[in-house]
Amino acid sequence: MAAVSTFVFLVILIHRLCHNSAIDVLSPGSSLSAEQSINVLRSRNGRFICGFYNISPNASTFSIWFSNVSERPVVWSANPLHPVYSWGSNVKLNFDGSMVLKDYTGQTVWTNNVSSSIAGQAQLLDTGNLIVKGKGDIILWQSFNSPTDTLLPTQRINVTTKLVSTNRLLFMMNASGVLDSLGQFQGSDSTSFMAADWGRHIIRRLTLDYDGNLRLYSLNDNGTWSVTWMAFPQLCKVYGVNGRNGIFIDQSDWGEGCRPKINITCDEEKVKFVHLPNTNFYGLDLSAQRSVSLNFCKQICLSDYKCNGFAYFQGFCVYYRMLFETNRCS
Ligand SMILES: *[C@@H]1O[C@H](CO)[C@@H](O)[C@H](O)[C@H]1NC(C)=O
Ligand SMILES: *[C@@H]1O[C@H](CO)[C@@H](O)[C@H](O)[C@H]1NC(C)=O
Ligand SMILES: *[C@@H]1O[C@H](CO)[C@@H](O)[C@H](O)[C@H]1NC(C)=O
Ligand SMILES: *[C@@H]1O[C@H](CO)[C@@H](O)[C@H](O)[C@H]1NC(C)=O
Ligand SMILES: *[C@@H]1O[C@H](CO)[C@@H](O)[C@H](O)[C@H]1NC(C)=O
Ligand SMILES: *[C@@H]1O[C@H](CO)[C@@H](O)[C@H](O)[C@H]1NC(C)=O
Ligand SMILES: *[C@@H]1O[C@H](CO)[C@@H](O)[C@H](O)[C@H]1NC(C)=O
Repeated sequence: MAAVSTFVFLVILIHRLCHNSAIDVLSPGSSLSAEQSINVLRSRNGRFICGFYNISPNASTFSIWFSNVSERPVVWSANPLHPVYSWGSNVKLNFDGSMVLKDYTGQTVWTNNVSSSIAGQAQLLDTGNLIVKGKGDIILWQSFNSPTDTLLPTQRINVTTKLVSTNRLLFMMNASGVLDSLGQFQGSDSTSFMAADWGRHIIRRLTLDYDGNLRLYSLNDNGTWSVTWMAFPQLCKVYGVNGRNGIFIDQSDWGEGCRPKINITCDEEKVKFVHLPNTNFYGLDLSAQRSVSLNFCKQICLSDYKCNGFAYFQGFCVYYRMLFETNRCS
């Protein structure tokens, strides 16, 4: 009998130990280390993992990623451009709520900048949001407020947040917006789009990819992703697309945007329109006319010195004043 209860006790203990190695909270004073792959936080639904993600045998980033997903599972990184050595690096939650990532030399690589008199624990939520709680469960810091290249459902983007792709392309909105749990993105301006497989119980991410295109993905049962919406269906290069909500290269700041490579003149002889099939521009300053010919639409654009291009579909003419930040006659 004693042997049996010892066995049961051991089984329970082992179960508890296993369970404790996969928890969703980190208590003040504790840390996660880079060298032990089991030393991670797991969201309660098992969907997300937070810890050190190996980007090469010796380098890792403090990240959040999808569990059970084969392709591109990372959704957030504290130090995407400054990976740490995978041996001897760690991230610690201090009693003041500060989370500090140190590399093996002890040098601080990243911190969440929290300094609170009373801090609680850090928790990886089912949404994929890593939060640090303070007294009365107020949120002192959350990873959702500093996205890298991906937005998850319920994660809000606004004028102060931006998506940064791995090769430093940026996506920003001059408004706030959120992807809901059904797969619809709604901005506080007129920006709105919907997943082709709109509906419940689908795991999604909205990612600014390496090519500068913004894509909405749904997770397949086999752990791969399907694209269910993308900002630019046909363009292979979208750098330089500009306006209120733009994707552009990091070197220029938000106010400046991109500059066209050429100086566009007002000389009609020298102006040529280029046909861009299957292209649309969202949220730009524009005017429109109905029931006009293609040639008339072109003439409206040519005669308006601010016009930088037009869209034409079955008599419907829309002309753009803000394709580029600079006007055509600058
Ligand atoms: C992950 O995969 C394991 C084994 O295939 C499965 O038991 C578990 O339910 C999966 N978790 C999620 C969140 O899909
Ligand atoms: C990783 O680090 C070890 C120890 O410093 C070194 O021997 C090994 O060559 C490194 N591996 C790579 C792929 O850089
Ligand atoms: C913390 O503060 C530093 C210095 O002001 C800043 O560079 C860094 O982006 C901040 N980190 C976060 C997570 O806000
Ligand atoms: C934008 O979001 C950040 C958190 O991500 C918040 O601190 C800030 O107040 C928001 N700004 C606006 C203008 O809503
Ligand atoms: C995974 O599932 C998707 C959708 O069902 C399918 O199109 C794709 O071929 C599958 N991929 C693999 C590697 O099985
Ligand atoms: C952003 O929005 C504000 C207020 O609507 C507007 O004044 C400003 O010109 C916009 N900025 C850009 C770059 O479109
Ligand atoms: C465009 O104009 C600016 C200022 O007049 C000039 O410095 C620049 O070289 C011009 N660029 C091209 C491509 O002609």
